[in-house]
Amino acid sequence: MTENVYEQPILVLGGTGKTGRRVVNRLTALGRSVRVGSRSGEPRFDWTDQSTWAGVLEGVGSVYLVYYPDLAAPDAPATIRAFVEQAVAGGVERIILLSGRGEEAAQLCEQVVQRSGAEWTILRASWFSQNFSEDFLVDSVRGDEIVLPAGDVGEPFVDADDIAEIAVAALTEAGHVGQLYELTGPRLLTFAEATAEIAKAVGRPITYQSVSPQEYAEVMARYQVPAELVAVLTDLFGKVLDGRNAHLTDGVRRALGRRPRDFADYARDAVATDVWATGQPDRG
Ligand SMILES: NC(=O)c1ccc[n+]([C@@H]2O[C@H](COP(=O)([O-])OP(=O)(O)OC[C@H]3O[C@@H](n4cnc5c(N)ncnc54)[C@H](OP(=O)(O)O)[C@@H]3O)[C@@H](O)[C@H]2O)c1
Repeated sequence: MTENVYEQPILVLGGTGKTGRRVVNRLTALGRSVRVGSRSGEPRFDWTDQSTWAGVLEGVGSVYLVYYPDLAAPDAPATIRAFVEQAVAGGVERIILLSGRGEEAAQLCEQVVQRSGAEWTILRASWFSQNFSEDFLVDSVRGDEIVLPAGDVGEPFVDADDIAEIAVAALTEAGHVGQLYELTGPRLLTFAEATAEIAKAVGRPITYQSVSPQEYAEVMARYQVPAELVAVLTDLFGKVLDGRNAHLTDGVRRALGRRPRDFADYARDAVATDVWATGQPDRG
């Protein structure tokens, strides 16, 4: 590693998404030179179009690597391997990978990064709290009914702000190299309990209904989610919501030296943005 890694631009893939946007904001506030890697970035970056990779990697010293749609997608390990090889050959010295907890497929992607020759940090995260306010569940909350194939399993929802703070520390400090942080929030909540926290914060009743993975796949198909993605998500939900992740870890404390943010604090702050106000237009 050269000290140069701290001077060169940082590439933030998924830089408009839930964690990436927060990483970009924090790095910018620190005065760091940041490049957003996404289809709407300049230059444009698309995981499905290898001809767009060289442009975003030009002159970059480190990368926050967020894959899309999910590390559980069948082509993720090969695509990430090709990207990482190109990045390291072009001079990238440090890679921070956003990974998923309890996913064997994601662990293959972790190994690709760990064996890349670059300095690495793995952020192996549980379900983001922000899935309820900045992703596919926001319309459900606005419509006062959350439907998921989650039964009554406990999930230790983690806050995207905690993930971003750790990513920035790993990108800008030496002490996180070679660390695998398993990241959870401070308590287990069933999806019914998470729904109740949101209902309490927003001040109106919201119901939670558990359905089978098959029923959920049918709902997604009705909403025109592409069949390939339905298959990936159905498989993923079946695995990560089977109880394997229903325990807490100390990753946030190990990385930041403090307690993770609680779901109730997340819900209170999300209400303040009006994202769940009824009458908001659908995201689609
Ligand atoms: N959500 C969770 O609870 C969770 C938990 C653990 C791990 N993860 C992992 O986090 C990663 C991100 O998932 P997410 O759902 O949270 O999404 P996200 O980061 O909130 O949003 C997706 C980002 O990827 C970009 N993007 C979309 N399609 C792209 C493409 N073809 N090429 C390049 N960039 C593209 C989007 O920007 P543009 O639209 O501008 O391209 C956006 O910046 C996944 O690998 C997932 O496995 C998620």
